[in-house]
Amino acid sequence: MSFFLKTFNTLTCNRLDMKILKWIGIIIGSLILVLGAIISVLYGISKQHENQTYNIDISPVYIDYSDESLLEKGRHVATIRACVECHGDNLGGRVFIEDPVVGLLIATNLTTGAGGLGSDYSDDDLVKAIRHGVRKDGKSVIFMPSHEYNVIDAADMAALIAYIRSKDPVDSTHLPETKIGFPFRLMYVLSDIHLFPARLIDHSIGIPEPVAERTPLQLGAYVATTCIGCHGDNYGGGRIPGVPPHWPEASNITLGGVLADYTEADFFNAMRNGINLEGRVMEPEFMPWQVFGYMTDEELSGLFEYLQSLPARETGTR
Ligand code: HEC
Ligand code: HEC
Repeated sequence: MSFFLKTFNTLTCNRLDMKILKWIGIIIGSLILVLGAIISVLYGISKQHENQTYNIDISPVYIDYSDESLLEKGRHVATIRACVECHGDNLGGRVFIEDPVVGLLIATNLTTGAGGLGSDYSDDDLVKAIRHGVRKDGKSVIFMPSHEYNVIDAADMAALIAYIRSKDPVDSTHLPETKIGFPFRLMYVLSDIHLFPARLIDHSIGIPEPVAERTPLQLGAYVATTCIGCHGDNYGGGRIPGVPPHWPEASNITLGGVLADYTEADFFNAMRNGINLEGRVMEPEFMPWQVFGYMTDEELSGLFEYLQSLPARETGTR
């Protein structure tokens, strides 16, 4: 009798186990389906943003090739606006991020050499890429901070274009193609990574008129746009969106952060020699002081004055 009871019990228990297992299976299966659906929606959004095309009226830029200081000025702009940081000193293009999450990001060869922009790439095409973030094929540039270059005035833009045009041809056919990492696409949709900058720009704003003389404060504000990609729109610093995880956080360069303890001489030391307030030499890959070091004394002291004029921010509020 007890034998029958036991068997009966085990049978019902087994049936219960099966039921629970079945439910667990259904729940896990549904979760996988939902997750899969979310991932494919996010992927779809990133693809849609990538393939969106822009039809833009370009304000033409007049380039006065008789101006003898033109190329020197263009080199200065290309340096302090960090074009050379990504595109290379010879503007021949390079891999500037290679990371399992972010992917493989290649800055274009801007010369007329093999693999470069090509001979039918006009001045207007350059303006469109630089200040609108729109490539010749009408799509957004990938990860290039054109939204920071929207402020570059017509005289600086003319010099920059002339300088790009003056570079010797470089062959870049060895460079691989840009590949945005799959996880990075998903992160892009869920955060504020500036992967497709054409989306961030008001394309109706024409190119700013050249300014003959800026006050130190105005000059500082003009060059400071190049800092926002890393230090944030309000310069409060923190984790830089979209860079690989081994990057340090960008410092808070307002009076709410390190700037409070900076003298102008300290600031010059940081920008020219890469030495931060702790006396440590910063990695130029993360904080590109080697290019900012080429700013003139006027630009650097204007920049210092400008940063000091900004509201104090809490660190990490970028
Ligand atoms: C943070 C890195 C970075 C910086 C800084 C940068 N670029 Fe780029 N640039 C890129 C990348 C990446 C591409 C390729 C974009 C793509 O594949 O869509 C690119 C593409 C271009 C293109 C070609 C667009 C096309 O039609 O295909 C031009 C022109 C260009 N950059 C000019 C400049 C100039 C001038 C500056 C400085 C004012 C500059 N870039 C600064 C990363 C950068
Ligand atoms: C490509 C990203 C990037 C850009 C662009 C950038 N910075 Fe930085 N900056 C950083 C990072 C990251 C650090 C922290 C580096 C470290 O701790 O080693 C830093 C640190 C600094 C420091 C040192 C602060 C301290 O802790 O003493 C100063 C000053 C500074 N940046 C100013 C600027 C200014 C001004 C600009 C614009 C002209 C600028 N940075 C543009 C990434 C950037």
